[in-house]
Amino acid sequence: MKQNKVTAPSLSEMKARGEKISMITAYGYPWAKMADEAGVDVLLVGDTLGMVVLGYETTLQVTMEDMVRHTGAVARGTQRALVVADMPFLSYQVSDEEAIRNAGRLIQEGCAQAVKMEGSDHIARTIRRIVDIGIPVMGHIGMTPQSVHQYGGFKMQGKDAENAERIRQEALDLQDAGVFSLVLEAIPSTLAGEITKSLDIPTIGIGAGPDCDGHVLVSHDILGLYDKFVPSFVKQYANLWQISSDAFKAYNEDVKSGRYPERK
Ligand code: KIV
Repeated sequence: MKQNKVTAPSLSEMKARGEKISMITAYGYPWAKMADEAGVDVLLVGDTLGMVVLGYETTLQVTMEDMVRHTGAVARGTQRALVVADMPFLSYQVSDEEAIRNAGRLIQEGCAQAVKMEGSDHIARTIRRIVDIGIPVMGHIGMTPQSVHQYGGFKMQGKDAENAERIRQEALDLQDAGVFSLVLEAIPSTLAGEITKSLDIPTIGIGAGPDCDGHVLVSHDILGLYDKFVPSFVKQYANLWQISSDAFKAYNEDVKSGRYPERK
């Protein structure tokens, strides 16, 4: 392994040093290589793949085959960053045996170095078994997109005292189950800050305010490459949709008018 490679244990060391952790989603070779060379610590092959790359309305349609293929492409573009692959809907909820097999495929065939799973108590035992065979697991609580139909949309969680208490407890339970870090999605920032203080493992926030140990965003959101909606907490750093559309238009006009290819 390369000397400066980011690993699951090194994220805890970063938390202990007070160093912020940067994480971004990646779905293919070029974006992974760019983000890795930019110094981003963790590349998440998120199941948002289903929405921003494959064009589905939710993440629920993503399959293990989709995840293995895209994780492999990201791993081939990455030298330093930790590559974490999302376990898609139904790949870990049916039985521990299926969950272990599928987590193993993301490591063996996809060449990820860790997997991420949404949820808490109902999967704590499964997480323990996957961790026991040597696969690092990242947890994910708060607004978990695989439960979108139960919420009735992508809605903030933990707003009332009872739900906030449940999420606090879930974070502690997942730490006990052995996750090496925890994504907190779309919860109030005070709650995210309290959870972050209460845990030894690092938290990675998305729509959870500034007080998490690290932050993650969907790469297509920050690059302006998703046309359907952009969550309010996203900071957009580029508008590649516009740049790419202009390039396609210019190419189309060149071919139609005979300006491309030139004789020489
Ligand atoms: O699938 C994904 O991209 C994610 C992040 C939004 C955390 O889970």
